[in-house]
Amino acid sequence: MSTPHRRSSWEVKDAAILAELITLMNLSPDEAALLKSLGPTAEPLAPQMTTAFYERLFAHDNTKEYFEGKAMERLHGMIARWFIGLFSGTYDEEYAHQRLYIGHIHVKIGLPVRYPLAMMDVVMQYGDQIAAQSSQPQAALKAFRKVLSLDVAIFNQAYEDNQLKHLADIVGCEALARRLLLGTS
Ligand code: HEM
Repeated sequence: MSTPHRRSSWEVKDAAILAELITLMNLSPDEAALLKSLGPTAEPLAPQMTTAFYERLFAHDNTKEYFEGKAMERLHGMIARWFIGLFSGTYDEEYAHQRLYIGHIHVKIGLPVRYPLAMMDVVMQYGDQIAAQSSQPQAALKAFRKVLSLDVAIFNQAYEDNQLKHLADIVGCEALARRLLLGTS
């Protein structure tokens, strides 16, 4: 397998990454409006989602330990707001920035990325339920999966940004850092 010397995607940086992802997801105005129409359905279901979310995390010692000494009521509220945000109807750079900031918070607490990515399972179950209550359930499900995939990509981006930045600082060059991350240098 030959090692690529450069990829166009490597030149996309910072805010442009978010803009690129939004374009890639190709979420139409109709899809955004459909999700927005489900906001009032999502709101009352959010507390159930957060309960299931933390039940899953507290059932596993390696994830539970991150919450020692944390104000859980506040966290329930923040996850609920994050969940309701999936049905806000506005998925612009500001939206993506807020989600990226949340990703960075998880980088900073030393949380392996596999945990938040795996937790999308719980989020998906509730999102699917909400989409099923739409007058256009198939279209709503398709739209919901797009915005959730955007969050998966953004969460991962927060981790990649951090690794690349630190490695590039150490080796003094981003191109070399990328080659090292390929594992082929
Ligand atoms: C779908 C996955 C996840 C989402 C959407 C999510 C969302 C959030 C949000 C919105 C906050 C509040 C951020 C703020 O202060 O503005 C937060 C904080 C936090 N999350 Fe997550 N989270 C996820 C997964 C996890 C997992 C798997 C863990 C641990 C096993 C975790 C541990 C924490 C902790 C400890 C904080 C508090 C950080 C601090 O203030 O020190 N999160 N999360």
